Amino acid sequence: MSSNQTPEKATGLHIGTPAPGCKKTNPMLVIDHVKKSFGGLTAVDVEHLEIPTGAITALIGPNGAGKTTLFNLLTGFDSPDTGTWSFQGTSLSGVPSFKVAQMGQVRTFQLTKALSLLTVLENMKLGAKNQAGEGLLKSLIPSIWRKQDQEIEVKAMELLKRFKLDTKKDDFAASLSGGQRKLLEMARALMTDPVLVMLDEPMAGVNPALTQSLLDHVLDLKNQGMTVLFVEHDMHMVRHIADWVVVMAEGKVVAEGPPSTVMKEQAVIDAYLGAHQDTDLGVVTGRITIVDEGDK
Ligand SMILES: Nc1ncnc2c1ncn2[C@@H]1O[C@H](COP(=O)(O)OP(=O)(O)OP(=O)(O)O)[C@@H](O)[C@H]1O
Ligand SMILES: [Mg+2]
Repeated sequence: MSSNQTPEKATGLHIGTPAPGCKKTNPMLVIDHVKKSFGGLTAVDVEHLEIPTGAITALIGPNGAGKTTLFNLLTGFDSPDTGTWSFQGTSLSGVPSFKVAQMGQVRTFQLTKALSLLTVLENMKLGAKNQAGEGLLKSLIPSIWRKQDQEIEVKAMELLKRFKLDTKKDDFAASLSGGQRKLLEMARALMTDPVLVMLDEPMAGVNPALTQSLLDHVLDLKNQGMTVLFVEHDMHMVRHIADWVVVMAEGKVVAEGPPSTVMKEQAVIDAYLGAHQDTDLGVVTGRITIVDEGDK
C-alpha cells in the first residue's frame, strides 16, 4: 500500500463523545490513575486512558508533556508512583520490560538504542525472544540452539529485506544513518511478533528520503493486524496516518479524538500555543518540515 494516497482510517473506535478518558469499543491498553513525579515535577498524571485495538493512535503534546515518561511506565522501563494499567486485559503493573516485550508489547526509543558495536544482523538477533541458547538445559544440546539460531536468522533476514537493510547486515549499526537506525529499531522490535508496537518519535531526525518509507512501514503494521501507538510532533504525519489522537499537556490527557477534529480543539491549541493562538500547530512544534539532523 502506498501512503501517497490517503490511507483508510479505522472508525468506530470509541463509545460516546470523544473526550479525555473516553471508552473504546475494543481497548488494548487500559490505564488508570497512573502518576509519576520527578522531585516536585509531575511528569505524568493520567486518570484514565484507553488505547484502541487494531488502529494507529498518535500521542501528541508539547515538549515535556510526559509522552516518553508514559511510554517508559507502560513498558516497564520505569515504575509509576501510583496507578495500574492492563494490556489485553492482563495487568502489567510491576512487570519488567523484557517480560512486557515477551507478552507482545514492544517499544522503540526517541533516541535510538541500536547497539553501535554490533552488526545490523546481531542487533536483530538480540531482539528475538525465547532464545534457546539462554536456557541452561537447552544450551547443553547444541542441535537445539543451532536450529533455533538458524530460524532466528532467517526471520531477521526477512525483516531486514522488508526494511531494505539486508545489504547492510554485516555493517556495524554505528555506520547507519539516523533514519536507517530508526528502521533497524522498528525491524528489531518486530522480531518478537508483537501485537502492540509503541514508537517514540519514529520520524524525528530522519532524512526526508526515508520518511515515506517509515510512514509506509507504520501503516503496514496496522495492515498486518498490529496496534500502533506512536509519539510524533509532525502534525502532517499525524493527520495522515493516525486513526485516533491523544493529546497530553503537563502530564495529563487534555483531549482525544479523530485527527480531523481533535487538533482544532481549544484545549489542544492552548496546550501548544499559549497566547499565540493564530499560529499553525505544526510550526509551533518546530517539526512541520522534516529535519534531517543526525542523518547522513
Ligand atoms: N528521569 C527524569 N528525571 C527528572 N525529570 C525527568 C526525567 N524524565 C523526564 N523528566 C521530566 O518530566 C517531564 C516529561 O518529560 P518527557 O520526556 O516524558 O516529555 P515528552 O513529552 O516526551 O517531551 P518531548 O516531546 O520533548 O520528547 C519533563 O519536564 C522532563 O524534564
Ligand atoms: Mg519524548
